[in-house]
Amino acid sequence: MFFFRRILLSLLWFSRHETGVTHVLVTGGAGYIGSHAALRLLKDPYRVTIVDNLSRGNMGAVKILQKLFPEPGRLQFIYADLGDAKSVNKIFAENAFDAVIHFAAVAYVGESTLEPLRYYHNITSNTLVILEAMAAHHVKTLIYSSTCATYGEPLKMPITEQTPQMPINPYGKAKKMSEDIIIDFSKTTNMAVMILRLEKAPRAELREHGRISGACFDAARGIIPGLKVRGTDYKTADGTCIRDYIDVTDLVDAHVLALANAKPGKVGIYNVGTGKGRSVKEFVEACKKATGVDIKVEYLSRRPGDYAEVYSDPTKIRRELNWTAKVY
Ligand SMILES: NC(=O)c1ccc[n+]([C@@H]2O[C@H](COP(=O)([O-])OP(=O)(O)OC[C@H]3O[C@@H](n4cnc5c(N)ncnc54)[C@H](O)[C@@H]3O)[C@@H](O)[C@H]2O)c1
Ligand SMILES: *[C@@H]1O[C@H](CO)[C@@H](O)[C@H](O)[C@H]1NC(C)=O
Ligand SMILES: *[C@@H]1O[C@H](CO)[C@@H](O)[C@H](O)[C@H]1NC(C)=O
Ligand SMILES: *[C@@H]1O[C@H](CO)[C@@H](O)[C@H](O)[C@H]1NC(C)=O
Repeated sequence: MFFFRRILLSLLWFSRHETGVTHVLVTGGAGYIGSHAALRLLKDPYRVTIVDNLSRGNMGAVKILQKLFPEPGRLQFIYADLGDAKSVNKIFAENAFDAVIHFAAVAYVGESTLEPLRYYHNITSNTLVILEAMAAHHVKTLIYSSTCATYGEPLKMPITEQTPQMPINPYGKAKKMSEDIIIDFSKTTNMAVMILRLEKAPRAELREHGRISGACFDAARGIIPGLKVRGTDYKTADGTCIRDYIDVTDLVDAHVLALANAKPGKVGIYNVGTGKGRSVKEFVEACKKATGVDIKVEYLSRRPGDYAEVYSDPTKIRRELNWTAKVY
């Protein structure tokens, strides 16, 4: 029954197929960054197909997008696991994608040290599945969401694209391997590839009417009990980690600019950060100030696999793609 519904829905999708509008496959589009990216792409307007297995993502975000863009042929959601190469190939066969933005991944540093295979499987081997499907179905543009965790803990800050990549946890290593595979493969094809090494985006949910609410505001409103600070004994000015906090809407802008500027036969690699390092404590204080609420803060021990200080130099992406962080 489910199967026939799927076929019927894809036929409907095909029959309303608007021509001339770029059709983007957003893997992990039910997730945090992916759902915001889908919203932005749909507004632009691109056509979007989200593939997600909802293991981490949230169907609520997809439902909000469906409500905002109900017109047939704008947004399609497909429930599938990227580890399932057969399903992925079927999805590529049934849809003429112009480009792929690959967000789907497991993305917790601490968890990656405890479950490395889950990370290598869901990050690295799933990237292979995507590349094979792209090759088989002649999809030529790939935007890959990588991470500054691929640099590990460099001695010199800020991180530039020339900083050597020496990841220190399975998450960073799995992402670095995916990058390497993508770059090697792109040399044998005429693919247009953009690799974005993202800095930390404080989590925020896509809410009703496309509004965004972050952990700060959720904590201030009592939706979550408070904020957690993991590690207070790092060798930094106030003992907490220093990160390059970037707003999710700025990250999404970088992806859309990368998509618009991707060139056949070229691999573009960009750090996406604000260029400013801020401590976790500073972030918490900023949350309290912005919300006017004395948010409850829980101080916990260090998270395994974590590092004291990272922030990125965004000069290259500013110069080449005219991107700047607007929010923080
Ligand atoms: N959030 C950040 O601060 C940050 C920083 C650097 C890089 N990134 C990268 O950005 C991307 C998105 O991160 P996020 O924070 O939105 O994570 P997220 O967990 O919110 O979203 C990931 C989505 O991918 C889906 N997914 C995972 N494995 C899948 C599979 N095998 N098949 C189908 N769907 C699958 C999940 O269900 C989820 O919806 C990741 O690649 C992550 O490495 C995020
Ligand atoms: C999706 O991910 C979950 C959780 O890791 C897993 O149990 C499930 O088998 C995956 N695939 C599908 C199609 O649900
Ligand atoms: C990840 O990979 C494991 C196998 O190592 C699998 O069981 C799981 O469903 C996959 N998905 C996620 C989101 O972890
Ligand atoms: C660069 O981006 C800004 C907005 O961030 C825009 O106003 C400006 O026109 C852009 N410049 C070019 C050359 O595209």
